[in-house]
Amino acid sequence: MTYAKGHTTKATSNDVIKLLKADHEKVKSLFDEFEKLRSKNGNTDKKSEIVKEICHELTLHAMAEESIVYPAARDSIEDEDLMDEADVEHAVAKELIAELQDMDADESHYDAKVIVLREYIEHHVKEEEGKMFPKLAKSEIDGEEMAAEVTQFKEEHKNDDSTSSAKKRIHAAKKSSVKQTKKDSNGQDADDEDEHARKSKSGHKAENKEISK
Ligand SMILES: [Fe+2]
Repeated sequence: MTYAKGHTTKATSNDVIKLLKADHEKVKSLFDEFEKLRSKNGNTDKKSEIVKEICHELTLHAMAEESIVYPAARDSIEDEDLMDEADVEHAVAKELIAELQDMDADESHYDAKVIVLREYIEHHVKEEEGKMFPKLAKSEIDGEEMAAEVTQFKEEHKNDDSTSSAKKRIHAAKKSSVKQTKKDSNGQDADDEDEHARKSKSGHKAENKEISK
């Protein structure tokens, strides 16, 4: 898919930049909500709910950027250093997100990780909105078409395991590993498969217990 547009149109306010900025605003409000709760020593469940939403929104947003926006931007704005920085910032944010997705809200350093994630995202948003997006707006990229692609991508991937808890990802990996064994198995492997399924089942029970804590 190319996003080159005609010579007469430039990116409008109704385009991919507006869409990505709206995502940034949404996450900022969620961080604000978290901060309010934290300062009042608010309800741990509510805090955890907000952080889950932050992690989901950020992951979906980053996936869409990495799949659609960044490759096109790398081709068109000719600023490799800026794009490389954005890649690294995403990678570091994703590490913090993965850690938070595996934590309970009452664990040590939970709040600190959310605060550092916020600082990180604020820096990244400043770089994108201050440097990358203005270059994108001046490029030959068709912002309207890319906005449609991003919207469709997010719709298609909103329930992906990668946007939610890492515990769920482990669960999914175990399930697909059992499936793979089934596919490859002959008589001998069937025993291994049963063994794997039994282990996997008990593993799932332990996970569920942990999640429902
Ligand atoms: Fe980004």
